[in-house]
Amino acid sequence: MSDLRAYRAELLDFTGDPGDDEHSAHLRHHLDGVLLVENGHVVEAGPAAWLLPQLGEDVAVEHFPGRLLLPGFVDAHIHYAQTDVVASYGADLLDWLQTYTFPAERAFADADHAAEVAQFFIRELLRNGTTTALVMATVHPASVDALFAAARPFDLRLIAGKVMMDRHCPPWLQDSAASGYADSLALIERWHGQGRFHYAVTPRFAPTSSDEQLAGAGRLAALDPSLFVHSHVAESPREVEWVAELFPWARSYLDVYDRFGLLRRRALYAHCIHLDAQDRARMCESGAGMIFCPTSNLFLGSGLLDVPACAGAHLAVGTDIGGGTSFSLLSTLAAGYKVTRLAGHTLTPLRGLYLATLGGACALDLDGVIGSFAPGREADFIVLDPTATPLLARRTAHAHTLAEKLFALIVLGDDRVIERSYVMGRCVHQRD
Ligand code: GUN
Ligand code: ZN
Repeated sequence: MSDLRAYRAELLDFTGDPGDDEHSAHLRHHLDGVLLVENGHVVEAGPAAWLLPQLGEDVAVEHFPGRLLLPGFVDAHIHYAQTDVVASYGADLLDWLQTYTFPAERAFADADHAAEVAQFFIRELLRNGTTTALVMATVHPASVDALFAAARPFDLRLIAGKVMMDRHCPPWLQDSAASGYADSLALIERWHGQGRFHYAVTPRFAPTSSDEQLAGAGRLAALDPSLFVHSHVAESPREVEWVAELFPWARSYLDVYDRFGLLRRRALYAHCIHLDAQDRARMCESGAGMIFCPTSNLFLGSGLLDVPACAGAHLAVGTDIGGGTSFSLLSTLAAGYKVTRLAGHTLTPLRGLYLATLGGACALDLDGVIGSFAPGREADFIVLDPTATPLLARRTAHAHTLAEKLFALIVLGDDRVIERSYVMGRCVHQRD
């Protein structure tokens, strides 16, 4: 039975990276557009004047006047177990991990706690218009079960994995090379490819894994190219110095992962701030993705990513909750703009929104299924309200160009702007 539905509003999506060009051919924009959805997938997107007359009388048309439809946001790096760590005061990365993060993650040994946080977390993603996320759980295998179980009723396309860490963290939070491998393998068998779920082999970062554990992670990653790899690299200067002491044989921090077979397509590395030109070239060549987490980098004082220097590599954006300070990809892009300004560059609103949608999907190697309104894509999309706050309404009322309006949405917007979120064509969040 056909289930054709039409959503009428201003539509915006991308067919590729628009770069800094406001008039890029990679931008698809219809001031009065229609998104046609059937059985959870995009049939077509185009101008209302052209598509509406082709629809039968029986097709339901939902009209959102004054609203903007975008593909759902992709958050390429977030820790669900750090939901309650957000806004923890006054420490750099390594101290922040010891003082706040590890104790908070310890609580996930309790399955009830994990389930409660996972449910809040999934709701928070949807409130913020995030329909796909790459998520770090904790060292406890049951923390992954809790997350996927919370996501299942919404049929979210979600990627997650159990953190592997067998040293340099409190003993109550350690696995071992053998148990980390075995537990990850069991989770892969349980969750990878189940519906829209994917598994990510997740060594936390090089300092908390022994050589033996990193070798095991490399063996897991080699089992199946459709598996993801998820870790952190070159986030803070102290961390980089520590890695140089721990792995004296490595040319660089990134080289540690490379030597263990952890650089490849579908391998995603958060931060990538303190890489050199050779590392960046290796990221490009390997197909691995860099994840820009600007609210976290500012909050922890980790450094400023040189975004133009990442050209040629897959780049995505991540909130990095709870080092990051917002679940909103809009707020994350606002911080991204400020980071690029501090580094002497810029991030246009169009490129920012590309990175938060199709760019993120490309970095995750999921652009064949999500990230745009191309026919056949899964119908994950969001409805944005440019009048969500008095100041936004006032500012967007006199925006002269699309870019100006989008920039105001990024700089002034957050979860309040997300009026609705749809997953596989089903409305899963509606603002009060
Ligand atoms: N590096 C290793 N673990 C973490 C973490 O939990 N958050 C951030 N931001 N960086 C890390
Ligand atoms: Zn992180």
